[in-house]
Formats: sequence, structure tokens, C-alpha cells
Amino acid sequence: MSCGTRGTHGNDPDGDRDSQKLGSREVVAPEMGRLTQLGLTLSVPRPGWASRIAAFDLLAFGADAWPVAVWMHELEGENASYLALIPDTPAITAIPDIVAVGGVSRGIDAEILTIAVASAHRGLGLGGLLLDELLAIADEQGSESVFLEVRSRDAVAQSLYEGRGFEEVGRRPRYYHDDDALIMRRDRPAATQKGCQ
Ligand SMILES: CC(C)(COP(=O)(O)OP(=O)(O)OC[C@H]1O[C@@H](n2cnc3c(N)ncnc32)[C@H](O)[C@@H]1OP(=O)(O)O)[C@@H](O)C(=O)NCCC(=O)NCCS
Repeated sequence: MSCGTRGTHGNDPDGDRDSQKLGSREVVAPEMGRLTQLGLTLSVPRPGWASRIAAFDLLAFGADAWPVAVWMHELEGENASYLALIPDTPAITAIPDIVAVGGVSRGIDAEILTIAVASAHRGLGLGGLLLDELLAIADEQGSESVFLEVRSRDAVAQSLYEGRGFEEVGRRPRYYHDDDALIMRRDRPAATQKGCQ
């Protein structure tokens, strides 16, 4: 598994450059401005994108990547929400290039199932933006906590998670073939809990 225990091409057809609807989520400025600047848009990946996402996943995670069949199952299923960053120009083929992908499971205890940004686009704030969107989905669906697993030697990913309020709550020795996994948890912020609008 990639990270946890591991739509439509949103070209803003209404001409509204300040917001973009993704199901119940709405990506607002300045996040939208940042994406527009980079020529990207946030989208809900379709099951038909499974092969391309699996190829992207392989580049990001190598031996830990999910195969096409798992991606197909995940994108067709209703147990998790996935988001992708794709170019905002129409793709030559029906399937867009994939710049980043992330997913979060449903439930009281949600889980970041995967998050990855294409190597050429790292360090630009996209991983943070995607994680913020996944956490907003978890908060909106009523999850009390969000968990994830991360390589103990992956300082960049840990820094990303710590910056979003995740704390280490455990360790799985030799979870990866070459590393331990740290288990991290982030509790839902008080402001988003029921009755505290
Ligand atoms: C982890 C990953 C998703 C981060 O994506 P990114 O777009 O590069 O991240 P961002 O630019 O949003 O940076 C997020 C944080 O990471 C840290 N960071 C980013 N690049 C860094 C670098 N080169 N060195 C140290 N820290 C760095 C910063 O603390 C940053 O915090 P900020 O939001 O306060 O600025 C990306 O490196 C990746 O896809 N890695 C391969 C897949 C992977 O390992 N995923 C995690 C599985 S648990």
C-alpha cells in the first residue's frame, strides 16, 4: 500500500475563476489562484483513469504502488474519496496527465490512503494543498480523527503532516520492506465539530 494501512475534468465551465465545486467541496481562492498560476485544476478521478494513475503511482511509490486493479476498485468504490491535480488545458487523449493524487477513507476514524505529487512538481505547495482538501473532506463527513502511516525516514512527508496537525502515535517496525512506519493521527479541529460552526 502506498501511504495508509496504506469527475470530471474541472475546467471551470461557468467561467468562475474564484471557486471550483468538487461534490460538496468548494476550492476557493487563494488555493484556486495558486492552481491557475501553475496551469492545474483539482478533479475527481474517474475509474477510466486507473491505468494512468497506476503508472503515476508506480513512479511515486515503486514496489509499494497499487496495481491497476486496485486503483480501478478504489475509484469505482464508495468507501473513499480521491482527488487528482491535472493540467487545466484539455488533454489530447480522453485521460489527462496526472500531476498529483490523494485519497481519504470514510468513517469516524478516516485514513489518508495515499498522497503523491509528480517529482517535477514537488516543493510547490501542491502536496499541502491536496492534503488540506482531503482533511476538509474528512471533517465534512464527520470523521473524528484522521490516521496515516509514513516511512520513518521520510522527513519531507512527516514535515507535511506535522504542519497539518498530525502527531506520531505509534510505530510499526519493518512495515515497509526497508523501513519502519510511523503511525500519525490528526484530530478534527474543534471549530469543525458539531455545534461549533
Ligand atoms: C510527500 C509529498 C506528497 C509532498 O508533496 P509536495 O508538493 O512536495 O509538498 P509541499 O510542497 O506542499 O510541501 C509540504 C511540506 O513538506 C515540506 N517539504 C517540502 N519539500 C521539502 C524538502 N525538499 N525538504 C524538506 N521539507 C520539504 C515542507 O515542510 C512543506 O511544508 P509547508 O507546507 O509548511 O511549506 C511528495 O514529496 C511526494 O509525492 N513524495 C513521494 C510519495 C510519498 O512519499 N508520499 C507520502 C506517502 S506517506
